[in-house]
Amino acid sequence: MPATKPLPSGFTLAIIGCGKCAYILLEHVLGDLGDRVCPIEFVVGDNVEAARRADAVVLSCHPHQGSEILRVPGMSEALADKLLLSMLGGVSVTTLEDSLYAKSAGAVPSLGRCHIIQAIPNVAAARKKSITVVGDRSACMPDEALELGQEILRRIGDHAFVGTNQMAAATALCASGTAFFSWLVEAMVDAAVAEGIERSEATRMAALTMAGAAELVVSGEDPAVVTARVTTPGGATARGLAVLEHSEVKETVAIALRATTLKIRS
Ligand SMILES: NC(=O)c1ccc[n+]([C@@H]2O[C@H](COP(=O)([O-])OP(=O)(O)OC[C@H]3O[C@@H](n4cnc5c(N)ncnc54)[C@H](OP(=O)(O)O)[C@@H]3O)[C@@H](O)[C@H]2O)c1
Repeated sequence: MPATKPLPSGFTLAIIGCGKCAYILLEHVLGDLGDRVCPIEFVVGDNVEAARRADAVVLSCHPHQGSEILRVPGMSEALADKLLLSMLGGVSVTTLEDSLYAKSAGAVPSLGRCHIIQAIPNVAAARKKSITVVGDRSACMPDEALELGQEILRRIGDHAFVGTNQMAAATALCASGTAFFSWLVEAMVDAAVAEGIERSEATRMAALTMAGAAELVVSGEDPAVVTARVTTPGGATARGLAVLEHSEVKETVAIALRATTLKIRS
């Protein structure tokens, strides 16, 4: 996990839509403060006021509510020159900018625009293990705003930059991928239970085996090399892998990832 640097002294973060996803972020932002005292304020029914008082804003409401929240009079001024970190799945930066600035289309805004970053974490954020997909960004994003956004995201794990047209596939891989890998663990556990291993122990063993394989790959080993290292020709692992290859599991995984990607794009 990347090391975090302290957020700027006196920095104020507003979270609009503090549900499951944002709560986890908040928990880790506060956790990283250690013994430093950090006042928390709840602003009820006035998102503009919350944005006005903040140095940066996280938007984590339901995707369909984002535009409505940003269209409220005073919001574009409250966000002027600030970082807006959007966690809204499937909502592009262009859509958010249209909501904020459509009225002034063509006109030069009297105050600076905000700097929007689209960032989609996954549920492993709860353990600071999210691989957050960072896609769309406002044009002319200042380095400091981007660095601040990354620093906030480091509180919940690592992040990866992708191009706008890769965002749907990357979200399928990283956000939905958590469900796919958990589903595979479930399948391994069921199979192990059928072989007589007690379920809770099988779950722990399967999960740690997956984490171990992941650790090897994360540390730079090629997954195909890891597979080859475990597989003696004609041996037991080779027998099982042959079943997987024969069942076209790789092709099925590709179809599943594609189906999720298309749904995210739709
Ligand atoms: N959960 C994940 O794993 C995950 C992963 C990646 C991205 N995301 C994205 O994160 C966002 C939030 O997901 P979530 O799972 O955290 O949802 P959630 O728990 O339902 O949180 C949404 C929050 O937004 C609040 N809200 C609704 N309308 C609002 C308004 N007008 N002003 C201020 N707050 C408002 C809701 O309050 P009320 O409950 O009072 O309505 C709720 O607390 C979504 O856009 C989702 O695409 C989630």
